[in-house]
Amino acid sequence: MCGIVGYVGYRKAVPVLLHGLQRLEYRGYDSAGLAVLDEKSKKIIVEKQVGKIKDLQEYIWGKEINGNIGIAHTRWATHGPPSIENAHPHTSKSEAFAVVHNGIIENYAKLKDELIKKGYQFKSQTDTEVIAHLLEEYYEKDLLTTVLKVAKMIEGAYAIGVISTVEPDKIVALRKGSPLVVGIGEGENFIASDIPAILEYTKTFIALDDEEIAVITKDKVEVYDINGNKVEKKPFTVKWDLVAAEKGGFKHFMLKEIYEQPKTITDTISGFFSDLNNPVYNEIKNIQNIVIIACGTSYHAGLVGKFWIEKFVKIPTIVDYASEFRYRDFPVNEKTLIIAISQSGETADTRFSAIDARKKSAKVLSIVNVVGSSLSRESDFVIYTYCGPEIGVAATKTFTAQLITLLLFSLKAGLERGNLTQEEFEKYYNDIIHLPHLVNEVLKQDKAIEEISYKYHNVKDFLFLGRGLNYPIAFEGALKLKEISYIHAEGYPAGEMKHGPIALIDENLPVVCIVPKDSLYEKMISNIQEVKARKGIVISVSDSQDSHLLSLSDNIIKIPSVENENLYPIVSVIPLQLLAYHIATILGKDVDQPRNLAKTVTVE
Ligand code: F6R
Repeated sequence: MCGIVGYVGYRKAVPVLLHGLQRLEYRGYDSAGLAVLDEKSKKIIVEKQVGKIKDLQEYIWGKEINGNIGIAHTRWATHGPPSIENAHPHTSKSEAFAVVHNGIIENYAKLKDELIKKGYQFKSQTDTEVIAHLLEEYYEKDLLTTVLKVAKMIEGAYAIGVISTVEPDKIVALRKGSPLVVGIGEGENFIASDIPAILEYTKTFIALDDEEIAVITKDKVEVYDINGNKVEKKPFTVKWDLVAAEKGGFKHFMLKEIYEQPKTITDTISGFFSDLNNPVYNEIKNIQNIVIIACGTSYHAGLVGKFWIEKFVKIPTIVDYASEFRYRDFPVNEKTLIIAISQSGETADTRFSAIDARKKSAKVLSIVNVVGSSLSRESDFVIYTYCGPEIGVAATKTFTAQLITLLLFSLKAGLERGNLTQEEFEKYYNDIIHLPHLVNEVLKQDKAIEEISYKYHNVKDFLFLGRGLNYPIAFEGALKLKEISYIHAEGYPAGEMKHGPIALIDENLPVVCIVPKDSLYEKMISNIQEVKARKGIVISVSDSQDSHLLSLSDNIIKIPSVENENLYPIVSVIPLQLLAYHIATILGKDVDQPRNLAKTVTVE
């Protein structure tokens, strides 16, 4: 949701903050602002703009703001619409304290009433402004003690950064529920909502845990728990490089990330094999049921994963939206394995579902991309996907990496439970290592997919159909298209079409049919015939040369044939990512930062 960055050191703070905000813009982009302690006037200077980071940059351009300490924020509105008043940072009455905040203060209305009675006036409609005023009201000669006191008054999930004129050498940062890392430099230190924001300056980080507070000066970082006791934190280093967080000649991050998939699949396969001693493979022998929880695209990966787990691990598996699982009484026990899938490892519903299930003695395995993220630290076992930072809001490379991880996990767990022989395991492995090459082959269809996109970019609706392992890919194709082009799209298991959605089909409706030459091919052909009989426009994604399919299809997107049909979902999703990308760019939409969306959903 919102993004926070903070700097204290020897450089001018403004460029560091603006670079950080640019890299965090995917987290929210309706308004932005920064606060810097001016070295001459010793006052806090606050600059804000509605719109994107570039609007803030243009607004600040040429202004003399000289200071080496500051905090900044890019906003995704929760309380109050996007406006200069509601943009962060927020300052206290005397402007001695400035605050940036990601998350929600649930009891802000009550606190606001109390502050108003004490004579405070509010300039914004945000929940954040209460924090600035509370800091002023309760300040007692020490910023750390004051933040600790205020932390006990505010309820909700949040990450906060504070600077103040009364203790001008430090940033105090507090985390409860929303992500926050501290970047460690030499003679300079940083805070940020996530790693790419400050990767330009450091590769060494401390991940704050919930209810931890960091006091950061240019030479020192000290971490305390909510009761003020000092906590020793072990810094970690990341291998990601800055190039991974830049567009590298591509027009958009999304396109770059689609094209990175041969590499990210290779890296994820290698990463998986370097972790074969993961204790989860011992635990799997005790497990009787599996629940996969996730949101959005990660949920779709889970739907495919269920097929592989049931086939190879032979344990009954259900897949649920984390936002639903969390609020129902699903019986779990110590023989339940929860598989929580999340690119960011910060999605609130996924995290809190996993935490609740662990409290009820279930074991949690997380499949996560961001190293050191909350979910990875809150799980019994972690398997990482190796994609580097994913900046485009629409998940692409992390989806295929989640799929490959789920497939490899299922095979290895199946081996451990005696359902597969070593020989069978190796046979699958030999098929899997061809995937990067197969994905490269699909990418060669890019031009053809762009041409199809030109033909249909003006329609109002799209339908996506698939069967078996590929029905979740139909869901994913529809999600990609709707979230970045704003064209209404629905994904359906093809066999379900005749139970309702068939009523939508007419000569104006493009129906994307995922029809690989697998064991359900003939069934899929029957469904396509049903579409054609109602004059629907058929766009087939297939490796089949069969003249019957060709005669039924208005357009064909070719995918390579695979030895093993379990690999089809990973191959067939790539054209759908490209289709969504091209349609959205033809329509002139902002594919990397679609309206109303944020990359990391840390609110419930
Ligand atoms: C869609 C998309 C979202 C995320 C969802 C979960 O392209 O990116 O639907 O998949 O918000 O996010 P993570 O995987 O970070 O938990």
